[in-house]
Amino acid sequence: MTFNVEKIRRDFPILKREVNGYPLVYFDNAATSQKPQVVIDSIVDYYSNYNANIHRGVHSLSQEATDAYEGARKKIQQHFNIAQSNEVIFTSGTTHSINIVANGFSQFLKKGDEVLVSALEHHSNIVPWQMLCERTGAILKVIPMNEEGVLILSEYEQLLSEKTKLVFVNHISNALGTINPIEYIIEKAHGVGAAVLIDGAQSCSHIKPDLQALDADFYVTSAHKMCGPTGIGMLYGKKKWLDKLPPYQGGGEMIKEVTFEETTYADLPHKFEAGTPNVAGGIAFGVAIDYLNEVGFDAIAAYEAELLEYATDQLLSIEGLKIYGTATEKTSVISFNIEGIHPYDIGTIVDKLGIAVRTGHHCAQPIMDFYKIPGTVRASFSFYNTKEEVDRLVAAVKKAQMMLS
Ligand code: ALA
Repeated sequence: MTFNVEKIRRDFPILKREVNGYPLVYFDNAATSQKPQVVIDSIVDYYSNYNANIHRGVHSLSQEATDAYEGARKKIQQHFNIAQSNEVIFTSGTTHSINIVANGFSQFLKKGDEVLVSALEHHSNIVPWQMLCERTGAILKVIPMNEEGVLILSEYEQLLSEKTKLVFVNHISNALGTINPIEYIIEKAHGVGAAVLIDGAQSCSHIKPDLQALDADFYVTSAHKMCGPTGIGMLYGKKKWLDKLPPYQGGGEMIKEVTFEETTYADLPHKFEAGTPNVAGGIAFGVAIDYLNEVGFDAIAAYEAELLEYATDQLLSIEGLKIYGTATEKTSVISFNIEGIHPYDIGTIVDKLGIAVRTGHHCAQPIMDFYKIPGTVRASFSFYNTKEEVDRLVAAVKKAQMMLS
């Protein structure tokens, strides 16, 4: 393998620290990724050298900040192969992006219309649509999944009809790691005239979606899962949809003209960007994208696949350990339980040994209900993790099992 993981690890200052007296093993990448020094530096540089509000001032600092922020928008456009930069809306993250769309669709749905959600969704791609259905009288239907954590496509096709107005599915499940066949899902939805929103919160750190080829109507993601900062994300929407959708928030910078009688809205993307934005975050999002591209998405995918296979084999060698989510198309997430032991107890013991995993329902309670479990232990890997770290997890889980059985 040519992938130089030790060199990459040196880019991440946090990986040098200890937790509870042990070198940190960070396996909670699906919750948030760690940040390379270049991303941290870009935030410090902005606040140290050109902090100013953007789009507002003729003064030089404001121009510099505006150029850097708009430059980041262009980087995002290029990275995702988006047709126009005004189809990139900066948001505070995936949840915010979904809520903009769900709120806007209140105008387009009526009683009896149907919207389809997958059984594999995070709460942030369920609750806003339930709220939309409450407002409009539309009906939420669920694309079911099987034991492996794979969507049942024949049932999906049965659910589609001319009543279907919207389909929303994640690209990758945060709880199980399943990679959904979104190309197929999008094509079928378009066949009945439904719009599609893809939640890319978990995908964009592993793969590089080509949004023009994909043809989704909306694609949303968060920078913090992609080595960028928290509090910044993207709403991509096809221009024809973004033009139609009403703004989500009113305020400064999203207007053309304001009088007490009437307000007209600014053109895209500003219509959806009321208020002073997260300037440092937007700039750092662009830097994070550059960083990931330097590492290379093909190299990331190959390395993570190897890590996933190794970790799956090693964890399965533990007696009584069951993995939830066994799709063939899967990214580097392993959700598991050990017979007779609560996931929280395992999480607590491995943390004492310096290992960070997430435990619980992972904001995906319907998945836990499907398996009739309270939650899982979830180890989610990134390209800066190593097989030695996997060995430490396996040893720690064995220790926890001995202590708790
Ligand atoms: N959605 C994040 C996770 O899966 C927070 O942990």
